[in-house]
Order: sequence, then structure tokens, then C-alpha cells
Amino acid sequence: MILGIETSCDETAAALVTNDGEIRSNVVSSQADLHARYGGVVPEVASRRHLELIAPVVREALAEAGATLDDVDRVAVTQGPGLVGALLVGLAAAKAIAWSRRLPLAPVDHLQGHVASLYLEPGPLEPPFVCLLASGGHTLLLDVRAHTDERLLGTTLDDAAGEAFDKGARLLGLGYPGGRELDLLAREGDPEAYDFPVAQVPGLDFSFSGLKTALLYAVRPLSSDELAARRADLAASYQRAIVRALLERVREVADGRRIAVVGGVAANSELRAALPDAVFAPLALCTDNAAMIASAARFVSPVPYPGYLDLDAYASR
Ligand code: KG4
Ligand code: ZN
Repeated sequence: MILGIETSCDETAAALVTNDGEIRSNVVSSQADLHARYGGVVPEVASRRHLELIAPVVREALAEAGATLDDVDRVAVTQGPGLVGALLVGLAAAKAIAWSRRLPLAPVDHLQGHVASLYLEPGPLEPPFVCLLASGGHTLLLDVRAHTDERLLGTTLDDAAGEAFDKGARLLGLGYPGGRELDLLAREGDPEAYDFPVAQVPGLDFSFSGLKTALLYAVRPLSSDELAARRADLAASYQRAIVRALLERVREVADGRRIAVVGGVAANSELRAALPDAVFAPLALCTDNAAMIASAARFVSPVPYPGYLDLDAYASR
């Protein structure tokens, strides 16, 4: 079995996955509550929390799988991109566990991890396909040719799609992270009530910062009573604009190819409904988790014991 560890942002996660891609356990401890009052992740606070949680979360993953470290033959860990201080906690834990058991260690790219959420049982997807990866930190369109061969077709020029959801939610007075709350509220609103712009960007790139500004201008003149009355309509119209921007690009590249969607925003109900033929990551694997990291590790050669002790984390690709 592979022990996967993920600490790139504000989720402390550990999972056990077999070499065949069966999830034996998948433990995610979210720190969202801790960061909510700041309206975003505070890196130093996240690192300290990871440090407290990493050992219990790994222990819980082993217990849930009915396993011990004797059953683990490889350790996989997110090396980047993400918050360096947060990544270092997971990386140090993974090194310590692997080194103490003389196991190989597989450093995994977080974005390849999200794609590998599609490769798990039951019903794994096989490349080739076009993948939309939309999360809080990234919005990428990838041409996935093989398990370890993906080419970048487009990316965001400014905010990520999940970031647009979170910033929009904040303007509407919803909690953090706001994507899910905005999704729920949008179901009660009229998506045609406001005409928010979809940025015209050349090529296959995305841009969401203008949309956020448009929402700001729509919200600013409203009194708090007016905002309360229009909140659902604003949410529905704003979500519609984000989803339209994503759909436009996906349809442009699809051209009969299979489409897959991964990352936190893949949990969005309007996006899921708008792409009935696409393959979506299972809901539990859309937001950050370690099962996807262990999954990705199945397709890379691990670093043999003890050559990984000087591995470093990276903030961006
Ligand atoms: O993949 P993820 O856990 O973290 C990153 O790697 O960034 O994605 C988190 C993002 C957040 O921005 C969150 O608001 C968004 O995914 N999200 C959603 C939904 N659920 C989570 N966005 C829209 N609709 C949802 N249902
Ligand atoms: Zn992620």
C-alpha cells in the first residue's frame, strides 16, 4: 500500500491506497474554521496547525485502513505547488516515516495529484482526455496524453476560478471558503438577474478578476437590506458567469475528445449539470485530499531510501 500525505494549503490529509488504486482510507482534517475569521488562509497559522495534526491524521488513516506501517511499501507526499511552510510539514513527516522504515518516497506535484483523482477505483478513467483543473489556487486546461504526460493548453491570467468563488462569496457576506455556500445560495436565485461579464481573453486562457470587480460594483450601492434581498440573485448570476467562462473554453477544446473536470470547483452543481457527458472527480476527491496524491504516486518512480532526505518543497511550478 501507498501512504499519501498532503499539506499544501489548509487541509491536513493522509490516505492509504493500494497499488491498484483502491482507497483503503482517506482522512482530511480541514483547518477552514481556523482561517475563516481572516477571510483566507494565513500561511504561518496553517503550518503550525499542520504540525499539530499531521501525526494524528496519519495514525487515523492507518487505523481506518486496518493497517500498520508494516503494510506500507511506499510513501507519497505533495512537494508543491502550495504554501512552502505548509508543504514542508508534510514533506518532513513523509521523509521521517519513509526513512525510519527504509521505504522509497515519491514526491508528487499537487496538480498531477488532482488529475490522478480520476485514476482511482471504482471506474478509473484512462488517458487520453482533456482535463479542466479548477481549484482555489489554479485554473488549468490540460491535454492529458498519458498518466504522466500532460500539456498545458490554457491557464488563468489572474484569479483562479475557486478564488473567484471565494472572493465573490466574501463580497456577498458568505463564509470562507465560500464556493460551496455560494453554490447553495445560487440555487435560490435568478441567474439572469444580473448580466456579469465573461472576459474575452485570446487563446485558451481565463481571466476572472474583472468579474469580481463587476460584482463589487453591483454590491457597493446596496444597503444591507437590499443586499439581503438580492443576495441569491447576485450569487446565481455571478456563478453563471464563472461557469460560462469555464464552459466556453471546455467546448472550444473538446472537439469530440473526452472531458474530465477535477479540483474544488468540480464540486460545483451548476458546472456538473452543464457538462453531463464529462467525467467529474468524485465529490469527496474534488477538494484537497491525500488519496489523489497516493494515486499519482503510482505512476512516478519513487526516490529510493535514503536519497530523498534533501528534497525541498516548491511554491510554484
Ligand atoms: O482543490 P481545492 O481544495 O484547493 C486548491 O488546491 O486550491 O479547491 C478549493 C476551492 C475553493 O476555492 C472553494 O471555494 C472551491 O474549491 N469550491 C467550490 C465548491 N466547493 C469547493 N467552488 C464552487 N462550487 C462548489 N460547490
Ligand atoms: Zn488542490
